[in-house]
Amino acid sequence: MKIAVVGGGGREHAIIKALKKSPKVDKIYALPGNGGIAADAECVDIGAKELSRIVDFAVDNAIDYVVVAPDDPLAMGLVDLLEAKGIPAFGPKASAAIIESSKAWSKDMMRRYGIPTAEYRTFDDPGEAMEYVEKAELPVVIKADGLALGKGVIIAESREDAREGIKSIMEDKKFGDSGNVVVIEEFLRGPEVSVLAFTDGNVVRPMISSMDHKRALDGDKGLNTGGMGTIAPNPYYTQAVADECMEKIFLPTIKAMNQEGRTFRGCLYFGLMITEKGPKVIEYNSRFGDPETQVVLPLLQGDLLDIMMACTNGTLSDVDFRFSSDSACCVVAASGGYPVSYKKGYPVTLPDDTSRIYIAGTKLQNGVQVTSGGRVLGVTETAPTLREAVDKAYRTMEKVSFQDMYYRKDIGARALEALEK
Ligand code: AMP
Ligand code: GLY
Repeated sequence: MKIAVVGGGGREHAIIKALKKSPKVDKIYALPGNGGIAADAECVDIGAKELSRIVDFAVDNAIDYVVVAPDDPLAMGLVDLLEAKGIPAFGPKASAAIIESSKAWSKDMMRRYGIPTAEYRTFDDPGEAMEYVEKAELPVVIKADGLALGKGVIIAESREDAREGIKSIMEDKKFGDSGNVVVIEEFLRGPEVSVLAFTDGNVVRPMISSMDHKRALDGDKGLNTGGMGTIAPNPYYTQAVADECMEKIFLPTIKAMNQEGRTFRGCLYFGLMITEKGPKVIEYNSRFGDPETQVVLPLLQGDLLDIMMACTNGTLSDVDFRFSSDSACCVVAASGGYPVSYKKGYPVTLPDDTSRIYIAGTKLQNGVQVTSGGRVLGVTETAPTLREAVDKAYRTMEKVSFQDMYYRKDIGARALEALEK
């Protein structure tokens, strides 16, 4: 089969490396891919948001199946457009991708169906939002309604910060129209767990749990980033928590989407907080997480293409797959200055064996990979224990270099502490 994968980051590289293992896959195109993905797929210079060019490419090249990885094209309706041309695609239609693309919508949905989440109010008027935070309990969480590259969340410790946050989102339009509406919610405490789940709209099959490390610096200091590293499984996600999540969150969400006439097919990402009162939803994503995918897929035992197509066809219960009992650790190497501003164009040195290197931001210049983004790559290693996986990942990272490179030295530290307590 001929497959096209839309997107060009570390997540897409991990998806492509997993798809390549399927005996059914003859050829993979990446739109647009990147300098590292080029070793595993044919990169085509079409951006993930160029919907009509993507559809034309798929038609002209008789693509059998398209995997849409990033949030933007899903929210813009790429899966709908492809299906209209008779090309099956992995990912939700726009009507279901709203679960990520509007936080106000997803909060209201959770309220309607009794799915546990933080208490909240939504506002389309900055004055009313300002008034509300004068009395709200601190810290208070302010979120832009729409997509904001994972950066539209402000945790305000003071009223001053809260007012500033509302102003930047609603008045200065830091995230454009994504900030026309804000959700202001209660601050939840507890360990965070990411659970990605395959679903065909009827059956939901959670993947192995993981833990993201969102802040730029060690000890969870510094600015929020797209994610500086991940581990799997997440030690806070015990069997008891998993059972409760299935009963109170996963199944009710799938049912709710059906009842709303917005059947969700694809990968549904549950961002969870394990609070004293049980697990609560912090956010949904309508797609694989990045860099969660880089630890989850290396532990998958099964044919990713079969699983994806079963999600699209509504036959997920017929597919056999499981996850290894090993652990995985992914450490991300970023350009100095990320997530604010950074230089690009530095040559990247990699170890000889790149099988577990997921490239996020490089391009090829005269056959050499040079940095082209904030997050440049992730190194994932797996091992029977988390301790070994972490050590291996850091040893491999010693063989990676580029100018101004930085990475967190404590990926997995919190999980190890929890395990060894
Ligand atoms: P989101 O983009 O919704 O995942 O939010 C980004 C990060 O902000 C999350 O991963 C949490 O660490 C934090 N966060 C979001 N909502 C809350 C909340 N209600 N309480 C505490 N932390 C939150
Ligand atoms: N790692 C969080 C996300 O993909 O949104």
